[in-house]
Amino acid sequence: MPADNPTSVKGNALKHVCIIMDGNGRWAKKRFMPRFAGHKAGLSSLRKIVSASVEQNIQALTIFAFSSENWRRPEKEVNLLMGLFATALTREIKKLNENNIQLRVVGDLSAFSDKINQLISEAIALTHNNTGLILNVAANYGGRWDITQATQKIAKNVQQGTLLPEEINENTIEQYLSLKDQPEPDLFIRTGGEKRISNFVLWQLAYCEFYFTDVLWPDFNKKIFLEAIESFSSRQRRFGRTGDQLSKQ
Ligand code: IPE
Ligand code: IPE
Ligand code: MG
Repeated sequence: MPADNPTSVKGNALKHVCIIMDGNGRWAKKRFMPRFAGHKAGLSSLRKIVSASVEQNIQALTIFAFSSENWRRPEKEVNLLMGLFATALTREIKKLNENNIQLRVVGDLSAFSDKINQLISEAIALTHNNTGLILNVAANYGGRWDITQATQKIAKNVQQGTLLPEEINENTIEQYLSLKDQPEPDLFIRTGGEKRISNFVLWQLAYCEFYFTDVLWPDFNKKIFLEAIESFSSRQRRFGRTGDQLSKQ
């Protein structure tokens, strides 16, 4: 294991949080509402958590908005989700910009319409120079897709003779992943009760701390977010070392 791996910090510095915002459909179903009502309500939760992340001085927040597998949903739901994505990109961007937030979209954007791609480009350009929270929206994102696209780029370099196979190390792979140049996620939150990764960030979850809650995403709020952070802060991150080694530091 490389010697420069991060060590546990007392109270655990929190730089990057990633969230699977799950449970929108069940939230709506419980209220005899269409699933889409849950997705709309989920957007309000997201606003709260973005502003709490700014307050907490978190460097990066990565949210799973649409997975590479979500295309398997009924066409009607997919279309409504695309509409909501376009609306959010239009209506939220001004406020994000005013709050010095830098928006990034990670995922295979080629599957989105020209209109959505245009809105994404405009939103990224507008917030490009902001120095506050980095908000990564994972859209048509999959952890496997990310590793695959990185591998393709690395293979091209090898083919062109600019990289030798034996020169490929963990840093090489990281340089080509969508979340490059950002601290690795420290805390992974999943709402909605499922205890799985669902092909979200894979590579960078290697030493991430997990927090699962049964709360459905539209009911998630700042209080529960702070509870997750509190839980994270009290954990001992050992990165392969022993607890004794860390307590001596
Ligand atoms: C998460 O909520 C939002 C997206 C996947 C877009 P779900 O829509 O998965 O809600 P449940 O899991 O069916 O309740
Ligand atoms: C993961 O939730 C994707 C998003 C929240 C965008 P899903 O609801 O799609 O995950 P599975 O299908 O239950 O694993
Ligand atoms: Mg779900």
